[in-house]
Amino acid sequence: MADYPVHEYDVLVIGAGGAGLRAAIESSAAGAKTAVVTKSLLGKAHTVMAEGGMAAAMGNVDERDNWKVHFADTMRGSQYLSNCRMAEIHAKEAPARVRELEAWGAIFDRTKDGRINQRNFGGHRYPRLAHVGDRTGLEMIRTLQDHGIHQGIDVFAETTVIKLLQDGGRCVGAFAYDREKGRFMAFHAKAVVLASGGIGRSFRVTSNSWEYTADGQALAYQAGAELLDMEFVQFHPTGMVWPPSVKGILVTEGVRGEGGVLKNKDGKRFMFDDIPENYRPQTADSPDEGWRYTQGDKSARRPPELLTRDHVARCINREVKAGRGSPHGGVFLDIAWIKEKLPNSVEHIKKKLPSMYHQFKQLADLDITQEPMEVGPTTHYMMGGIQVDAESQMSSVPGLFAAGECAAGLHGANRLGGNSLSDLLVFGKRAGEHAAKFAKSNGADRVNPADIDAAAQAALAPFERGAAGENPFTVQSELQDIMQNLVGIVRTESEMEEALGKIEALRARAAKAGITGNIEYNTGWHTALDLDNMLSISEMIATAALERKESRGGHFRDDYPEKDAEWGKYNLQIARGTDGRPMVRRVPVVPLTDEMKQIIEEQSK
Ligand code: FUM
Repeated sequence: MADYPVHEYDVLVIGAGGAGLRAAIESSAAGAKTAVVTKSLLGKAHTVMAEGGMAAAMGNVDERDNWKVHFADTMRGSQYLSNCRMAEIHAKEAPARVRELEAWGAIFDRTKDGRINQRNFGGHRYPRLAHVGDRTGLEMIRTLQDHGIHQGIDVFAETTVIKLLQDGGRCVGAFAYDREKGRFMAFHAKAVVLASGGIGRSFRVTSNSWEYTADGQALAYQAGAELLDMEFVQFHPTGMVWPPSVKGILVTEGVRGEGGVLKNKDGKRFMFDDIPENYRPQTADSPDEGWRYTQGDKSARRPPELLTRDHVARCINREVKAGRGSPHGGVFLDIAWIKEKLPNSVEHIKKKLPSMYHQFKQLADLDITQEPMEVGPTTHYMMGGIQVDAESQMSSVPGLFAAGECAAGLHGANRLGGNSLSDLLVFGKRAGEHAAKFAKSNGADRVNPADIDAAAQAALAPFERGAAGENPFTVQSELQDIMQNLVGIVRTESEMEEALGKIEALRARAAKAGITGNIEYNTGWHTALDLDNMLSISEMIATAALERKESRGGHFRDDYPEKDAEWGKYNLQIARGTDGRPMVRRVPVVPLTDEMKQIIEEQSK
């Protein structure tokens, strides 16, 4: 083996967002020597894009809230494809994880009587999102970072993992390069936790930054783990649409949670046009009720802008396609209207939504306290991912754990806003705890030097092809258009088949990607290495979406626009076939216990 540094740890965590940091804290607290590897700088994670809050049934604003209501809301939001045991664990454990974060120094907004304040979000029956203005994810990362660093966790920043190392079936480490110098290194570990986030960069319009290229999902798949629910991608209803340089940047759901309303170019609140059965909205002739509700009136009905994200995104899409959109291809989101209700509305908006105020002022020269914003759907979150055990977060590969966005199970067909931050804390903690336990009881296995040499050789191949090879940026850009246009918010069989054909062609081109320059800070090389992950996960998304012949949650098919009860019995699992290609199969959803059935029935009244 070439002379690469080998770092020895009990537990290696790949990813330094909320899930990774929380896992590392737990593993290190259990006495395991722990390292975190992050592709980016420490503190720069998609977690900060969960701006509006973390969902936890603390009942601080409405005492009727409790874990059972949260569980039922999550199951309904997921269109009953969640792993119900994960939904139960999540609803029960989230309040303790929020209080723990507070004990570690997170500073939350307070109610008048000094408790952690909670706000409304789509699909949550009661105000449930513990928040810090519209910077909740950022506060969470800051707190976890401080806590983790003081606990002695080692951090390898700007380090990208390109292969998981295995001995027999077991995962025993990872092979990586450092972004700045391009030098390879190996990690030898007794257990590995993947917490690498999402896949958003495979789409043209996204709230995800450059790091989110499906790395964890693809690494796990290559190592033999199964993936689940890959057809379910979340398009957040509100991203910026103008100017072009900021298209896709998130506009927090917190704006709607604070009373923001959606209007088309005719000034109509179009969300009233498509209200599902069993939803108790405010009425069109009393449009202020929703505002009162957000201000703490417990009896009022909810505004239709707070329907689940899948639904709101499709309604916006419909308005734009019908020619009723805003000048730059979105719709209007208006929070300024509350000045009719609130004398100090300007201060109120700036206090509740400080980042949104500055974001629009600086990036779009628009004052949201006075004018409506232009917004449209943006690829935000992947519900699908690595299939894990509900209790321990271990995948089917021994020693390989996953938590956060790269794992599947909690969110089913659609994630409720705010359930991501609580997911990261609840299941990050569990992953860290069980990885440390696994490390203690399993000792170290061997890393095969030949695997490392092969991985290094494959990674360097684009340099040999040089300028004669394919431009990796072109391949990436074409993939983004394919996924955006053919596997986006509204899908059809013919378009997805076209997408699969095009992805296949891109795969052949990616295999010939060529790079000039050397290994030091070479973004072309980094992109060439990312391509395989992006293409492989995009193929899985299209394959699963083609297979599911119905519409449910984040997956909407124009050719099968209805939900089909038969399909509600299955999740789609993707496993690696003998030819290395993804095989899709139906697996029965985890059955509800009698107690869970009773809770869901009670809560649907
Ligand atoms: O809109 C938001 O603040 C995003 C929250 C989330 O994705 O959970």
